[in-house]
Amino acid sequence: MNSTIGNIIRLSVVDSTNIYTSKKLSQFGMNEWTAVVADQQTLGKGQRGKQWHSQFGKNLLMSVYVKPRAIKHDHQFLISAASGLAIIKTLGEYGIEGKLKWPNDVLVGDAKICGLLIENQWEKNNLECSIIGIGLNMNQIEFNDYPWKATSMTKLKSQTFDLDEVLEKVIKNLKQLMAIAESKPAIVWTHYQLALYRLNQEIKFKTGDNVLEGILKGVNESGAIQIQTERELHSFVNGEVKLMRT
Ligand code: BTN
Repeated sequence: MNSTIGNIIRLSVVDSTNIYTSKKLSQFGMNEWTAVVADQQTLGKGQRGKQWHSQFGKNLLMSVYVKPRAIKHDHQFLISAASGLAIIKTLGEYGIEGKLKWPNDVLVGDAKICGLLIENQWEKNNLECSIIGIGLNMNQIEFNDYPWKATSMTKLKSQTFDLDEVLEKVIKNLKQLMAIAESKPAIVWTHYQLALYRLNQEIKFKTGDNVLEGILKGVNESGAIQIQTERELHSFVNGEVKLMRT
C-alpha cells in the first residue's frame, strides 16, 4: 500500500524512485529531505543506462531529495562521496565493513552491496537540487552476479534486517555527511580516500579499447580517479574509464 508519513513517501510498485521523485518535484515541489521508498521498481535505473534489479520487498530502494546549496559545480562529486560514506557508516553500525569502489559503488570484499545513482539539477553553475538514489541489498539472497559479484546484508550476517530501521539510519547518516560535505569538505575527502577500494593497490582498468594496469593513487576533488601506470599518472573522470574485475 502507498502512504506518506512525515517526509517519507512509501510506494509498493513504481517505475523508479528517482523518476518518481523527479516528476513529483517538477509537478508539486517537495520538502527537502523527502525520501521516496519502494518495495519494487519496474524500471529501476542503474549507472550508465543499466537497469537495477531487486526482488520485491527485499532491499532498500530509495531516493532522497536534497538541496546542498554550498556545493559548487566543480565539486559535485562530494555528493557521491558523502552518500557513499553514509552507506559505509550505516553498514558499520551492523558490523559490516564496506569499501567505496569509484565512482559510486559500495563493496564488501569484492562483492557489490549497494549502488548509488545521483542525479543533479543545475541552474547555470548553481546546484538546484540533487536526487540521491540508493539501492542497498539487504535481505535478498540470490543474485545475477554480473559483472561484479553481488552480496547483501543477510548473506553476510545470516539474519534478516528491518528495512525501516536501516532506512532511518541511512537518512540520519546522509544528513550528517551532507552537512559535513557543505561545511568541511576536506573531512569528506579524507574519509573517502580512506574508504577507497583498492587504494594504493594494483588495478586493471579499461579506457576506450585499451586494458591497462596501474596503481590506484586516489580520487581528486573533481572526482577524477588517479592511476599510476609504468609510464604516467592518469586522471580520468566518470565515464572515461571502467575498473575491471581482477
Ligand atoms: C548502480 O550501481 O548502477 C546504481 C544503482 C542505483 C539503484 C537505485 S534503487 C533506488 C533508486 N531508483 C532508481 O531507479 N535507481 C536508484
